[in-house]
Amino acid sequence: MDQYAVFGNPIAHSKSPDIHLHFAEQTQQNITYIRILGDDVQFENQVHAFFQQGGHGLNVTAPFKERAFAMCDVLSSRAQKAGAVNTLLMGKNGDLFGDTTDGVGMVRDIIETHQQSLKDKRILIIGAGGAVQGILDNVLAEQPSSVTITNRTVEKAQALAEKFGCFSSSFGALEGAFDLIINGTSASRSSSLPPLKDELANEHTWCYDMTYGKGTTVFLQWAIDHGATGADGLGMLVGQAAESFYIWRQVRPDMTSLLNKMRAELEC
Ligand code: ATR
Repeated sequence: MDQYAVFGNPIAHSKSPDIHLHFAEQTQQNITYIRILGDDVQFENQVHAFFQQGGHGLNVTAPFKERAFAMCDVLSSRAQKAGAVNTLLMGKNGDLFGDTTDGVGMVRDIIETHQQSLKDKRILIIGAGGAVQGILDNVLAEQPSSVTITNRTVEKAQALAEKFGCFSSSFGALEGAFDLIINGTSASRSSSLPPLKDELANEHTWCYDMTYGKGTTVFLQWAIDHGATGADGLGMLVGQAAESFYIWRQVRPDMTSLLNKMRAELEC
């Protein structure tokens, strides 16, 4: 059996083993997939040990994505731009390859699952941390008419906007309704809402929260209260996993049945 694992800290909550084992069963791949608690000091040694002991591939989650990036011998171009990786693969020549699948997972979820186009859309992205940096390249590849990044610490939004060639703004200076708003702050995870003006969303706006949870997230509730519609990031979680699975196994799993199952479990 080929061995895979996910590193993070904390890690006990990670749904990655369930997702990948579901994909493996569906596509008849013979794999094992476990959670490993990453150590703040020993992370790099833990990764080396995993591969030396015959491991095939790894997922990496918070707070190790940047450290995993720094370990790689070869990086995909999207990982180079994101400055972080969530997928590692050991090449036959011993080179460690790193990729980031968060952005492709999110964009595929928006387009395929939710049937929303990003092309020619006026897009607002809230947040300027690692999560947003990881999706910008994929969002821009869909050729929106404009992408504006807004963030509590406006300097971080400015730096990202400069790096990726888009706009930045403080919350207060934003004007008019957007076609699509993506919430990439960690605020949703603690059920707090950034200070968004009422005029930013209306019945033509579609909103995506990169976070997910039981019930409606605070950001999606804000969207609904302003007449907008949208979706949370459960499909992004499954989508990034599907892309990692593809990188490792060269087989693309179907996401729909798993998404339905996970949604039903969440609402229980
Ligand atoms: P992640 O890896 O999840 O992106 P991060 O790199 O720490 O985590 O970034 C968190 C993002 O959420 C940042 O954009 C942060 O804003 P600051 O740059 O001003 O810190 C944003 N964020 C976190 N809590 C927030 C809150 N209560 N209101 C608004 N933005 C918040």
